[in-house]
Amino acid sequence: MSQVMGSQLTQEMFELVRRPDVFGIVSTVDEDGWPRSAPFGSLEALDESHLVSLSLPDNHTLANIRRDGRVTVSWVDAEQRISVTGRARVTQEVFPIRHPSGAPVTRVDIDIQEVRSLGARGIRVTPARFTSPSPAFTDFLRAYWRELGITWVRATPGPVASMDFHVTSECNQECPYCWGPQDIAEVDTETAKRILLRVAAFGARRVVFTGGDPLKRRDIGELVCFAKDIGLEVALSTTGDELTEDFLARCGRDIDLLSLPIDGASEAVSSQTKKAGHLSAILRDLEMLARYPAMDVKLATPVTKKNIADVPNIVRLADNWARQVRNRVFYNVFHAFPRSMVEREWNELLVTDEEYAAMQRQVEATPHRIKINFLTRQILDRVYVMIFPDGTLTIPSGSDYRQHGRFLDVADLDALLAQSDFDSAKHLRHAQGWRKVESVI
Ligand SMILES: C[S@@+](CC[C@H](N)C(=O)[O-])C[C@H]1O[C@@H](n2cnc3c(N)ncnc32)[C@H](O)[C@@H]1O
Ligand code: SF4
Repeated sequence: MSQVMGSQLTQEMFELVRRPDVFGIVSTVDEDGWPRSAPFGSLEALDESHLVSLSLPDNHTLANIRRDGRVTVSWVDAEQRISVTGRARVTQEVFPIRHPSGAPVTRVDIDIQEVRSLGARGIRVTPARFTSPSPAFTDFLRAYWRELGITWVRATPGPVASMDFHVTSECNQECPYCWGPQDIAEVDTETAKRILLRVAAFGARRVVFTGGDPLKRRDIGELVCFAKDIGLEVALSTTGDELTEDFLARCGRDIDLLSLPIDGASEAVSSQTKKAGHLSAILRDLEMLARYPAMDVKLATPVTKKNIADVPNIVRLADNWARQVRNRVFYNVFHAFPRSMVEREWNELLVTDEEYAAMQRQVEATPHRIKINFLTRQILDRVYVMIFPDGTLTIPSGSDYRQHGRFLDVADLDALLAQSDFDSAKHLRHAQGWRKVESVI
C-alpha cells in the first residue's frame, strides 16, 4: 500500500534523497507512451519541493523530459521506499561543469507535485547505492555538489569540531595502556553512514576513524569515501600493521590525515608495549606514505615508563623522515592517560607530571622541524566526543567512559554536550588548528 504524504519531502525523506550514495530511479514517458526508467547518480534534492539532476545531451530520459515533463522518481533504502511525481524542465543547457568524458551536461530541475511513501512489508531492501566508479566521476559529482551549494555539514559550527568514530574494537595489538573500546559489537555499514551524516549535521567538520584498528573493518574504504563525499575532513588513526599500498591507492585521496602509533624508535623499546615487528611495520608504512605527499601524517606515542627515555629518539626518527618527504608531519606526545575498559597495571606504566614535563623540556630544547604537540593529561581530559563501535555516544571524563545512549537517537547534541562534562572551549582550542595547518587531537 502506498500513502500520499503531501507535496513535499518529509525531513526523513529529504535525508534519504540527499544521501550521496543512494540514487533515484527516474521514470519518464517514451514517445510511444510507455514508461522508461533510468538511475540518475546526480539526482539531488535542492529543498523539500525541488530536485535537480544533470544529464548528458544525447540521453533518452532527457529527450523525454524535453517532450513531456512528467516524471516519477523512486528511492529505496533499508528503511524507506519513496516515490515522487513532478514536472521536469531543462533549466541550463550547458552546466558549468563537464562530464568526466569531456562532454557538456544539461541541468534539469524537477518541481515535486506529490510524495508517496511506498509500503513494502515483508521484504528486505538493499539500497540502490552509488559507489564511485572512478576518481574522475567522484570529482565530477563533488564539483557538482559544490556548484549547487549542496552541503551536509551544518553551516554554523557547533560546540564540537571533531568527533572520534571508533568503528571497531578489533586490533592486532594488545597495548597495556589501551583506552580504546574493548569487545564491542559494530554497527553495520548503513548505520555507520547514518552516523556520519549526523556528525556532519551536528556541525562537526572532521571525523576521526579510529578503534581498535579501523582497517579491521572491511567497509572502511567505503566509509572514508562517504565521509569525504558529505564534506567532512577525514582522519584515520590506524595501528599501521595492516596498512597496504592497495588501500592507499583506493582511499588515500580521501584521507586528509593519517595517524600511526610509534611506541619506540628501536625494536627493543617498541616491543615492550607493542607486538614484535610493529616498528618495522610503521617504518614500511612511512615509506608508502611518502608517495602520498598530500596526506598529512601524524605519529603518536603514549608516553609510559617503558618509553619516556626514548621520546627524543622518536623525535629524531620523525624529523629525519620529515626531511626526506613532502608530507606535513606532526608528532603527538600523549601523556598515557589512566582510563581503560579493562583492568590495567597502571603503576608499571604511568609517569608522573614532573617526569613528563622534564621530557617535554628536553625535547623542546633540541631543534626540530616537525610540529610536536605535547598532550598532557590535563589537556586530554574531557576533550573527546566519541561514537563507540555499537553506535553509543561516549564522552569520557577522568577515568570514566560516560555513555549517553544511541548517537542516532540524540536530537539536540548541543544541549546534550552543554549538560555533559565535555569541555567545548578546550576542545575547540585544541582542535581548531588542523584544517591543513596543525593537528592536535
Ligand atoms: C585508541 S588508539 C586507536 C587507533 C590505533 N589503534 C592506534 O593505536 O593508533 C588512538 C590513539 O590513542 C592513543 N592511546 C591509546 N591509549 C592511550 C592512553 N591510555 N593514553 C593516551 N593515549 C592513548 C594511541 O597511541 C593512539 O594514538
Ligand atoms: S594499537 Fe591502538 S587500539 Fe590497538 S591495543 Fe594499541 S592503543 Fe589499543
